[in-house]
Amino acid sequence: MTGRARIAAVLLLLSTRAAPASPLPLDVCGGDKLDALGNACRALFRSETHGSSVNDRARITAAAARRWHRADAAATARGADCTSATNAIAPAVTDLSLLVARFDQSTGGTRACRSRRLRAAGAACRALLRNAGDRLPSQHGVPSPPDPEAAQLRAGFQARWQKIRCPTSFTPDSATAALDGIVERGIGDATTLTLRELATNAGVLVGAAVEPEHIANDPQFGPTLAQEFSSLTPENKMKWDTTEPVRGQFDFTPGDALVDFAEQHGMRVRGTALFWGRLQLPDYVKAAASADDARAMLTIHISTVVQHWAGRVAEWDVVNEPLTLLGDPGTTDGLDDHVMLQKLGPGYIAEALAIAHAADPAAKLYLNDFFVEIPGQKQDRFVRLASDLLAAGAPLHGIGIESHMGFVGFPSGDVLEAAIRRFTDLGLEVELTEVDVPALTRGLSAQADSYRSIFAACLAVPGCRAVTTWGVSDRYSWLRNFGAPGEIPLLFDDDWRRKPAYFGARAGLLAR
Ligand code: XIL
Repeated sequence: MTGRARIAAVLLLLSTRAAPASPLPLDVCGGDKLDALGNACRALFRSETHGSSVNDRARITAAAARRWHRADAAATARGADCTSATNAIAPAVTDLSLLVARFDQSTGGTRACRSRRLRAAGAACRALLRNAGDRLPSQHGVPSPPDPEAAQLRAGFQARWQKIRCPTSFTPDSATAALDGIVERGIGDATTLTLRELATNAGVLVGAAVEPEHIANDPQFGPTLAQEFSSLTPENKMKWDTTEPVRGQFDFTPGDALVDFAEQHGMRVRGTALFWGRLQLPDYVKAAASADDARAMLTIHISTVVQHWAGRVAEWDVVNEPLTLLGDPGTTDGLDDHVMLQKLGPGYIAEALAIAHAADPAAKLYLNDFFVEIPGQKQDRFVRLASDLLAAGAPLHGIGIESHMGFVGFPSGDVLEAAIRRFTDLGLEVELTEVDVPALTRGLSAQADSYRSIFAACLAVPGCRAVTTWGVSDRYSWLRNFGAPGEIPLLFDDDWRRKPAYFGARAGLLAR
């Protein structure tokens, strides 16, 4: 065959091969940024092999930051919109430095051997980040395809790690997981995908609790809400004191405004709460004269509210906070002591569920409570309540774990995951319904880590369907009026800037 014929044959062969699936548009902003981060990672590991100085690290970090910003400028010049990627490389680089120090401290043996270990980690870190950058999709709402190359890179790294002889506390698995954490963090910082898109890709909802007047009065509220969140919870406007402030007189106007907003933006609505004994319960309910009176009020309230929004509110907290503050048994077997418990007994919960179910058989029905994130008597009591209701055939579909962090410390991802599993093991769905993470004392980067582990914990359990933050911008956080003035517990700051917490959440949504 002549050279020309050979070329023609090859071209023919190529043209008859099945056309490759059209590739996803790549995230030009994020790809180059991850490359910059990868270089920094390898350089930091290398410099550690000869005892890096503060100066070495500063030089590496500065070079990475320059590349990071150049990547933004170059992509913007090509017409890309890089505004949703973080402009700061600093958080990711801080993570990198910590990671390198951890590897260094946990490795013993001769200098040459230690150096092999650190170099192996650095090379894998660089390769994983570069690979992630080459594949970072920018197409909104499209799940990332499986990544055989990353799997191969990990396997290669693990084999190499195994062969190096000097002692380390990092197993091949834990070393790989540590590097994967850096990749997630880097993608969370560098991608242009929104929280909502990342959540969709991961198969969960990301929600926020909101008030209609804030959306109406703050021009940045609505656009941020619609762009970043796929679920909406009325913070107060579906509670009893708003929906039926006077017995028999219903007001759905503020709740309707929120449902309209959600529908306009394709968001799911989670309603809270049909009955809440602790707060926002009108005095006339508390003054129920008899069991019949209490039952009549409960029935009319729940059926009227649920019917009004039937088909539009996808799920309800039917009873909010059914348990005592700390889950202590007291004289009520751990159930919060209020008018419905007093008049109807513990069966009021099953009754409320049945009324809601009859009013909208398609709605998912939840019980929701706090302090149940950590193991202990309240979590145990909640598990028992849920399983008793299921055993009795009550229409209970899910459990809301409020997750206001700080009250019960700052549970790790593992602790949260275990809490979620206790309920999904019963066959129930779970949502983290009211997440916020105080940061005044622990700082913004600890807050970012918490958000990362909260989202990752939900992703780790198939029955966990959503994570909702209790507010959007710190400016409107309820905590500021509940004993924590100036608290900054949410993902956006007072001026709608995305906080490290936001990028932590993104990293959590990318957890494998
Ligand atoms: C809070 C609201 O955020 C406040 O605006 C309101 O004054 C009181 O209720 N647990 C819950 C939520 O279940 O409904 C509460 O919301 C916060 C604690």
